[in-house]
This record gives sequence, C-alpha cells and structure tokens, in this order.
Amino acid sequence: MLLLYMLPMAKRFNHQMVLVLAITLLLINQSEQLESSQTRTLLRVRSLLNYPDILSSWNSSIDFCNTEPTSQVTVVCYEKSITQLHIIGSKGTPLLPRNFSMDSFVKALGKLQDLKVLTLVSLGLWGPLPGKISRLVSLEILNMSSNSLYGTIPHELSSVTGLQTLILDDNIFSGQLPEWLGSFPILTVLSLRKNLFNGSLPESFTGLENLRVLALSHNHFYGEVPDFSSLTNLQELDLEDNAFGPRFPRLGNKLVRLVLGKNRFRSGIPSELSSFYQLEWLDLSLNGFVGPFPPLLLSLPSITYLNIADNKLTGMLFENTSCNAELEFVDLSSNLLSGHLPSCLSDSKDRVSLYARNCLATGNQNQNQNPFSFCHNEALAVGILPHHQKSKISKIALAMAITGGIIGGIVVLGLVFMFVRRSNADNTTKKPTTRLIAEKASTVYTSKLRGDARYMSQTTNMGTLGLPAYRTFSLEEIEVATNNFDTSAFMGEGSQGQMYRGRLKDGTYVAIRCLKMKKSHSSQSFMHHVELISRLRYRHLVSALGHCFECYLDDSSVSRIFLIFEYVPNGTLRSWISGGHERGSLTWAQRISAAIGIAKGIQFLHTGIVPGVYSNHLKTTDILMDQNLVAKISSYNLPLLAENVDKVGHGTSAPTKDPSTSTRVSYDDKSDVYDFGVILLEMILGRPSKSKNQVQILKNQLEAIMATDDVTRRRVADPAVRTSCSDQSLKTMMEICVRCLVKSPAERPSVEDVLWNLQFAAQVQDAWKVDSQSSEGSPVSPFEPPHLRVAFR
Ligand SMILES: *[C@@H]1O[C@H](CO)[C@@H](O)[C@H](O)[C@H]1NC(C)=O
Ligand SMILES: *[C@@H]1O[C@H](CO)[C@@H](O)[C@H](O)[C@H]1NC(C)=O
Ligand SMILES: *[C@@H]1O[C@H](CO)[C@@H](O)[C@H](O)[C@H]1NC(C)=O
Ligand SMILES: *[C@@H]1O[C@H](CO)[C@@H](O)[C@H](O)[C@H]1NC(C)=O
Ligand SMILES: *[C@@H]1O[C@H](CO)[C@@H](O)[C@H](O)[C@H]1NC(C)=O
Repeated sequence: MLLLYMLPMAKRFNHQMVLVLAITLLLINQSEQLESSQTRTLLRVRSLLNYPDILSSWNSSIDFCNTEPTSQVTVVCYEKSITQLHIIGSKGTPLLPRNFSMDSFVKALGKLQDLKVLTLVSLGLWGPLPGKISRLVSLEILNMSSNSLYGTIPHELSSVTGLQTLILDDNIFSGQLPEWLGSFPILTVLSLRKNLFNGSLPESFTGLENLRVLALSHNHFYGEVPDFSSLTNLQELDLEDNAFGPRFPRLGNKLVRLVLGKNRFRSGIPSELSSFYQLEWLDLSLNGFVGPFPPLLLSLPSITYLNIADNKLTGMLFENTSCNAELEFVDLSSNLLSGHLPSCLSDSKDRVSLYARNCLATGNQNQNQNPFSFCHNEALAVGILPHHQKSKISKIALAMAITGGIIGGIVVLGLVFMFVRRSNADNTTKKPTTRLIAEKASTVYTSKLRGDARYMSQTTNMGTLGLPAYRTFSLEEIEVATNNFDTSAFMGEGSQGQMYRGRLKDGTYVAIRCLKMKKSHSSQSFMHHVELISRLRYRHLVSALGHCFECYLDDSSVSRIFLIFEYVPNGTLRSWISGGHERGSLTWAQRISAAIGIAKGIQFLHTGIVPGVYSNHLKTTDILMDQNLVAKISSYNLPLLAENVDKVGHGTSAPTKDPSTSTRVSYDDKSDVYDFGVILLEMILGRPSKSKNQVQILKNQLEAIMATDDVTRRRVADPAVRTSCSDQSLKTMMEICVRCLVKSPAERPSVEDVLWNLQFAAQVQDAWKVDSQSSEGSPVSPFEPPHLRVAFR
C-alpha cells in the first residue's frame, strides 16, 4: 500500500491520485470504523478551518473511513486509524479569520499519529509553520501549497526522518534554506516554488541521493548551484526566475526536465549536456550564456522542448542538422547563431520553431535576422562598424562611430585588466578572455546596431512587459515625434533635464527626456550608464525604450542625449490620493497594491540590475499610474548624469541629502526606504506632509495611535478609505510606515521585509473584504480611456 502512493513524479501524483486512492480503498477492509478520538480530531479540524463548504458533509455520525474520496476531500484509513488526509480548497480561498491559529490547528492534527500523507492546499492557512508538525512522526508526504504560511521551515521537521515529499509551493516562506534540509535520508521531492526564500543553496543538498524533483523556481535564491552530479536520481530541476549563476550547474545525466531560465548564468553550455539521453525539456532562456550552441541538443533522443532564447550563444547551424522526431517546440531567438536554419526546423508544421534576431540565412527577407557580420563581430568582441555606414555623414553615423571607438577602448582596457587579474590570481576560470569581454561590451553594441535604419521598420520584439525591445532612435525620429520640440509637446523641466511628450510613427506615445552633456563628460562612464539604462525595464518602473545621441560636428563629442521612456497616461499617485483627481481616489486595497508596486520597483532598482540604483528621492509625484492603476516609478536616479555618478551603486558610501543618513557607514538602500515611508504616510493620511519636521511629528503621532483601538486608528486615516479598510491591514500599514521612518537607517526594515509586510496587509484586507462585502462601496468609477494631460513632472 505504501508503494501505491509513492509515484515517481510529483506532477503525476496529482493526476492519478484519485484513482490510486480508489484502488487503495478497495484493497482495505470495508468494515473498518474509525476510533472515536480520531473522529473528534477531524471535527475539530473542520471547526478550526472555520467550517468550509467542502467539509459540510462531515458530522459526528458519518463513517469517515468509508466515504467516497472526491477531488477535494479524501480520508484514508488503515486499521481504524487515519493514514491519509487530503483537503483541497478552491483557488484564491481568502485568508482564515483573525482568530485562526496555525499553532492550534497543527496541534489538533498532531493527534493523527499514523498520518502518512497530508495535503492541505488552498485553505487560507496563515502564520508560521509550527514545529509541532513534527508530532506527525509517520509523515511521508506533506503538501501545503497555496496558503499564506510564512517564516522559515521549522527545524523540528528534521526529526520526521521518513519524509519523502515536501511541497510548500506558493506561500510566503522566507530566509535561507537550512543545512539540515539536505540531511533527510529518503527525500524524493522538494518543491518550494513561489516563495520568498533567498540566499544560496546549502552544500548539504549534494547528499540528497534519492532526490527526484527539486523545484525552487520563483524565489530569490542566488549564487552557484552546488555540485549535483552525485544526485543520480534527479529527474527534474526547476530553478527558473532566481538569480543563480554564473556557472552552468554540474548535473547527473538522468535529468528529464531542466529549467534554468531567467537566472544569471553567464558561462558556456557544457558538452556533457549532449549526452543527457533522457532529457525532454530544456529551458536556458533569458540568461547570459555564451560560447557555442551544441546543435546536438536538437537531436537528443528524448527532447521535446528546447528554449535557448535571449542568450549570447554563437556557432554555425547547417541545413542538414537533424532534429529529434518528437521535438515540438524550439526557441533559438535573440542569440548570435549563423549559418542556415536546419530544414527540420523550417519544414515541419507540427513543430513550433522561433529563431528571430540571429544571423541566420533563412532565404526569406522578413525573418528579422541580423547580418552575418553582426554575430561575427559580437562573437569576437571587435567593435568595427559595417563599412556602408561611413558614406552617410550624419550626426547619427558620427555618434555610432564614437560608440565603436569607445567599445574598442573598453575592449583594450578590458584586456589589460583581465591580463593583470589573471596573472595575479589563481587561474580558476577556464573561459577564454574574449568571451568575457564580448559579454561586457555587447549590450551597447547590440542596441547600437538595432538602431540601424534598416532594422528600424521591422516588427519590434514584444517582451514580457508588452514593451518593444530597447533600441537606438534616430534624431530625425525624435524631431518628428515631438513636432520639432514644439512647446505643445513640452511637459516640464526637472533636475534631470527637460521632458517632452512625443508620438512615434506607429502611434505610440513616449516620454522623451533631453539631457545636455557637458563636454568634459567622461565618455567611458557615459557608455556604461547607457548600457545600464537599457536594462531599466520593469513592470513597476517607467521603463526605458531607447536612446539617441546628438553630437557636435567639430569634435564629435556628444552634445545631447535623449532618453525615450514609455508614456504613462493616468496621472501621478498624489493626484489619486489627495482628491485631486476628478475620478475619485484610490480605495484602500488599491493603495496597498500601489504600495506593493512601488516597493517592488525599488527592489528592482536596488537588486534587479548591477550596480543597483540607490538614493532615488522618491515622492508621490514621481509615481505614475497607468490605465490599470499599476504604479510605476518615474524619476529614479538615472545612472547617467555626471553629478550623479558617485551616487550610483558600487556600494560606495556617498553621503546623501537625507540628514538622517549622513553617517560614514553605507546604508544606500535605506534612504529609499525612508522616502517610501513618507509615501506611505501620505497614502494613509490622505494628504502630503510639508516638511521633514512634519513627517517626524506625524510619525510619532502614528506610533502612539497604533497602540490604541481600532476606532482611533480609523479616525486618523484618510476619510476616503476609513470605511473600506480592515483594521488589521490599516494597523500593518501604519507599522510599516513607522518603521520606515525611523531616524537611524540601520534600524529601518529592508525592502524585502517591507514588501513582505505589505503583502500580508493585502491578504488580510482581501480576507476582510470578503467578510464584509455588503458594506463596501467603490469610490472609483469605471475607467475611461486614458487621457493625456497629467503626466511627468
Ligand atoms: C499539491 O497538491 C495539489 C492539490 O492536490 C496539487 O494540485 C499540486 O500539484 C500538488 N503539488 C505538487 C508539487 O505535486
Ligand atoms: C450527517 O450527515 C449525513 C449526510 O452527510 C446525514 O445523512 C446525517 O443525517 C447527518 N447526521 C447528523 C447527526 O447530522
Ligand atoms: C472565529 O471567529 C468566528 C466569527 O468571526 C467564529 O464563528 C469562530 O467560532 C471563531 N473561531 C474560533 C476558533 O474561535
Ligand atoms: C533573506 O531575506 C531575509 C528577510 O526575508 C533577510 O533578513 C536576509 O538578510 C536575507 N538574506 C540574504 C542572505 O539575502
Ligand atoms: C552537412 O553539411 C555540411 C556542409 O553544408 C557538411 O560539411 C557536413 O559534412 C554535412 N553533414 C552531414 C551529416 O551530412
């Protein structure tokens, strides 16, 4: 019977569960009656779960051991004792009410001493997972996905040595994974997708010899993956959307599914991969993989899905390269591949194959390919421009030539640097030097070439953001878009230059920031910053779409830079808070979600690019709202202006204007946390604060009020949200606000901490809203088409 539920792969477990359970039920003695103490435990579980509908059939007289299993509720018994309990709520079940206690709940479950399989999915459970879970000494499979459990995995769990499957997907667990997690003797499936775990993986994982599935996608893990070549049973490794890297992990060759997409891998693809005969699914997309792409991957005997898009992989493909017959999906887009598209990819109709933005000869004009020279040059990291550019002496060509020169300079400098470093240090990396340099120089080079007029009219790449690919714009294009910088296009002028609204040929609106350059501007730092700006693309940032240089004709130095951003049409956050907006103001839930957006934006600025962008001096007038009321940070500390250079990244301790952060120690990230506190204050109180002094006074008042009762707390909140906010979420928001505004930067919470608390406030608010649905009125009317008046400042 034990073997019946030990299925090889977790995903199959789900599909076959009901069937297996039915068989199990048939095999056991039908006349079994549950011990009365276990019946009482089940009824207690039902009451602690607040009598959910799915358990409505449970009462003291039903025979739990002989009820039909359903897809939502299943109880399995063996000799009068419960061995399996599955309760699966519907997706999006709200958080259990405030008086729920995870501790009491687990304590109650602890009475089911023979429980081997426990599934508690989508039940609105919240709170830390108590160590008491280890009272379930016989536990073999635990699945608690899609709840709101937080904190760390309790150490006590390590005593449950029979644990084979641990699934905690889609919760809000955080912190680093403990070393002891690697010491479960028979752990087969470990799945922790969609949490807030961070840090690097414990070395002890190399000892999990029985591991078949390791799924850690959508967390904040980073660093090198431990050497997994000893995990000979590993079939599925899913590390998607973390910050692992830079080296390709060492793996056993039994893998069936390998997902490394959206990480920070920067190495070559090891040739061993071509011997992974069971590999069905390979996703390496959205990394910085370099070096040759092994065409043998296309013909691996089991391969059905192959995605290497958005890397810097090089090499020749031949028409006669063969593919595995089962191959269904191939994405080679945005690499540096040349030669001919294999005919097995272009011929088959059952096969999806994507290969745009390489240098392939496809025989078809409209395949969105770069010229061969592009990939060749990129690969060699030699910044020589194609010759046909020279005849056309325009400002643009000049600008490009400069770029080329600068890249050449960077390459030479890079070479010297590499040489010095390599001769000083142990020779640990085996990669050729040119590759590393190619990597550094290529982003700028890519955007420069994409700006070539020949590619401009081609369909632009729609990324996950729904934005076109970053590119270079021509000066003519900018002039047309702004009607030659007409005053009607002028939006304002700030510390970061003048701002214009423009309309591109295809009808899209853009915001154009115009920066005058001093002649003394260091060309090197300047190129570096343009490269950084090209990476400032994120859902909660007003994202960069491209740039354009205007040059002096005499000495070819850059006179002006235009930075083209997406245009966000729906007003500033302030106009949505302080009643300035004719369409009303944000509800409490919308305020929390805007706050989460801003915090994510700040987190991206700090950690999403390297070096991070700090000290952004954010205000509610710098946050723009789009048609869907998604908050986007607009005037972040652009890594371009000479006077800003020392404030950007590198972990330097530049003293900022914030008097409270003027210590010698570096708290780069904490000045943004303070500004975030000021923004929260405005969202809670519904009015802006006029000075630093006033902020401190209000903060102290808030701190005092927090400790009082809910009537008082509500009274200080913005009248527009007083009736629509749950007390718990209001209190949580006040707490976050007060903590962000602490004088000493060291004591302010981290952005991650802030984000977590905000998410908690959102969940509590959600749960409350369902409780009190009837009394809720929405102050915001349905959206009209975006109008284009209020915007950047
Ligand atoms: C956990 O259980 C739920 C409900 O049965 C299922 O949908 C999900 O796939 C399981 N998780 C894993 C990783 O098997
Ligand atoms: C218990 O539930 C069953 C059906 O679910 C019902 O037939 C029975 O009357 C209930 N018993 C009591 C005591 O409520
Ligand atoms: C929690 O509160 C609800 C009312 O909101 C009540 O019906 C329920 O019995 C309480 N549960 C516990 C465990 O106290
Ligand atoms: C991980 O996140 C926690 C907060 O969730 C934070 O306190 C800790 O410093 C982070 N650790 C690392 C190594 O990033
Ligand atoms: C494929 O074609 C290339 C040249 O087009 C040739 O060098 C190579 O030998 C061919 N390979 C096979 C297996 O036919």
